[in-house]
Amino acid sequence: MAKYLVRNSGPLYGEVSVSGAKNAVLPLMAAALLSKEPCRITNVPALEDVKVMRDILISLGTEVSELSNSELTIDASSLRTNVADYDLVRKMRASFLVMGPLLARTGSAKVHLPGGCTIGKRPIDLHLKGFRALGAEIVEKDFSVEAVAPRGGLVGASVYLDFPSVGATENIMMAAVLAKGTTYIENAAEEPEIVDLANFLNKIGARVKGAGTDTVKIDGVSSVHGAEHAVIPDRIETGTFMLAAAITRGQVYVKDVVSDHIRPIIAKLRECGVMVTEGDEGLVVDAEDRELFPTDIKTMPYPGFPTDIQSPFMTFLATVPGNSTVIETVFENRFMHVAELNRMGADIRISGNRAEVRGGKPLHGAEVIATDLRAGAAMVLAGLYASDVTEISEIYHVERGYENFIGKFRSLGADIKKVNE
Ligand code: EPZ
Repeated sequence: MAKYLVRNSGPLYGEVSVSGAKNAVLPLMAAALLSKEPCRITNVPALEDVKVMRDILISLGTEVSELSNSELTIDASSLRTNVADYDLVRKMRASFLVMGPLLARTGSAKVHLPGGCTIGKRPIDLHLKGFRALGAEIVEKDFSVEAVAPRGGLVGASVYLDFPSVGATENIMMAAVLAKGTTYIENAAEEPEIVDLANFLNKIGARVKGAGTDTVKIDGVSSVHGAEHAVIPDRIETGTFMLAAAITRGQVYVKDVVSDHIRPIIAKLRECGVMVTEGDEGLVVDAEDRELFPTDIKTMPYPGFPTDIQSPFMTFLATVPGNSTVIETVFENRFMHVAELNRMGADIRISGNRAEVRGGKPLHGAEVIATDLRAGAAMVLAGLYASDVTEISEIYHVERGYENFIGKFRSLGADIKKVNE
């Protein structure tokens, strides 16, 4: 299995450009299933997850161009089936996002249950609650979910999400686009990726209002057309490189960002004494020769502190003298990186969903595991700070979600090598 070898290469300097957002492009690709006309998506990151979603759309009978110059064209005019391929769906949880558009477009859909993963059970009860509210019959058997709309099609309704689930908000929005009447999603997720999806849906002729607030209103339309759309920058990749500057005490210009999408990360880094200067195109993150302070983090649905930055940020806090607290409220098992950090010399104690970080201990290289996509990025950050060499395995997680990951780090002076065992 391939591994990363990471060595402390001192402070990182230079500039890095952020790619399109993984968690925006995946729902956008699924939403293209709603249209009988081609849709062109630009600023698409070259990720394994994008390849899997492309393969799923092709297996459904759509035509999807090869990714070239960060562009994809999806033509779902000749949709052949509404049963998503099991082997492909198993590869990526986000595949479940094809359920809503398939149900809306064809009147039924069958998708294999998305598995859980290391960070949590990842249930889909809220997705199904929304589909049922729109009139669909749901049958769960043989580890698959089948949804069938009433003979006359889905009917707009109100649905309250017990938790502001990103995926459920996206799936229900897409299912409601072609329903008869108006749908209200209450306690909806407010993430920027929801707004990006709503903007795309409105471009293809849907009528979505309130995305980015806790109530999204969708007035159903009879059909939608093609459109072109650019994916928003990846706010989690942005935060990852901001933290790379902070943990190595360097100075990095992070380009092509939307500052409004990362307010909590900017605020928390400033609380720690890191200088963050906002410009039109990007941010300068400067931790060179600066006195740093501990702080407390609590992950929350947007606009709160993003759970996907929790492990990279905790890694940074482990290098800052003083006691910090990290509370994870979104996923039930997202502290898997703590054991790996402690093996590198960190002093972090877990009690339930709370981690007490006694920061400032020296870190040394070790053989560690990327326990999920974001924890893998955290291990790279730890390796850039630790003495000796850090060997990171299970790196397929990381390469799923960050475009040109080590190439971008190397461009900032990082000493990272990918080796195949
Ligand atoms: C999206 O996952 C992201 N993935 C995740 O990013 C991100 O961490 C998460 O949102 C939260 O921001 C994509 O967008 C592809 P949720 P999603 O539904 O939609 C519970 C990464 O590293 N829940 O908002 O699956 C669930 O158990 C990934 O890029 C239900 O109870 O997240 C969890 O505790 C990791 N019932 C909480 O909601 C449901 O039906 C948040 O899940 C659905 C979710």
